[in-house]
Amino acid sequence: MKIAVTGKGGSGKTTVAAGLALLSSQEGKSVIAVDCDPDISLGFALGFPHPEKITPISEMKELIAERTESDLDRPGGYFKLNPRVEDIPAKFCPEHKNIRLIVMGKVNKAGGGCLCPENTFIKSLISHLVVNRKEIVILDMVAGTEHLGRGTANSVDAFLIVVEPTLLGINTGLNIKTLAGDLGIKRVFFIANKINSQKDIDFIKDNLKEDLTGLIYFNQNIQDSRGKFVFDEKLKDGFRDIYERLDKDSASLFKA
Ligand SMILES: Nc1ncnc2c1ncn2[C@@H]1O[C@H](COP(=O)(O)OP(=O)(O)OP(=O)(O)O)[C@@H](O)[C@H]1O
Ligand SMILES: [Mg+2]
Repeated sequence: MKIAVTGKGGSGKTTVAAGLALLSSQEGKSVIAVDCDPDISLGFALGFPHPEKITPISEMKELIAERTESDLDRPGGYFKLNPRVEDIPAKFCPEHKNIRLIVMGKVNKAGGGCLCPENTFIKSLISHLVVNRKEIVILDMVAGTEHLGRGTANSVDAFLIVVEPTLLGINTGLNIKTLAGDLGIKRVFFIANKINSQKDIDFIKDNLKEDLTGLIYFNQNIQDSRGKFVFDEKLKDGFRDIYERLDKDSASLFKA
């Protein structure tokens, strides 16, 4: 099962990706959590020890040069477009509580699909993760979807779109749904986050006009923790609900 968590900036993508990864691991599943955000954050949300010390894949220059057969001293030369990546998670990425964390780091955006060893390596790794792995793979996306090329995106089983009770959050969510359709994503689920009241729920339902797969209430402990790891019982309940709904879905997302 491969899920990409998307949504407007600040809507709660990282919080939702971390919550689902933690719950899946507590249910005894092997999980790969993928931080696609250049501003590394998923390791903090997952409660990894010293996440700030994790070297992002994009900064493993020597490894990338070796695998892509490129020359660090001579950029712009020949390099391999299909580097070997299947051993990367186990050999180069930390594991904590049965969750393997892959921090992608900064992708060079010059020219959109810029062809350089770093981007080629990261794209090959993401493609391997969503196409070949047996584990549950949860991708914490940036606001855009540049990590998912056309050939790769349609191997993702579902987009989870996180919406806050704001017009912008909802509009962005709906735009992402359209984009997901264009990319060939099979399933799209909406999760409402930072809910304070029934009014918030009604606002989202009235404006989104889509089914909600789950609700995560505004959590004061998250706010008070100032970025430290929080996964309290209330959050767990919200995520358990989402997990069970995704599991019961016809695609049985968590059984894969
Ligand atoms: N349910 C919640 N209750 C309270 N605070 C929340 C909740 N969900 C997320 N937050 C807080 O809102 C902020 C944004 O959340 P998060 O980092 O998960 O969003 P994001 O979509 O990943 O953001 P970005 O676009 O910057 O990557 C964080 O400070 C987070 O702690
Ligand atoms: Mg984030």
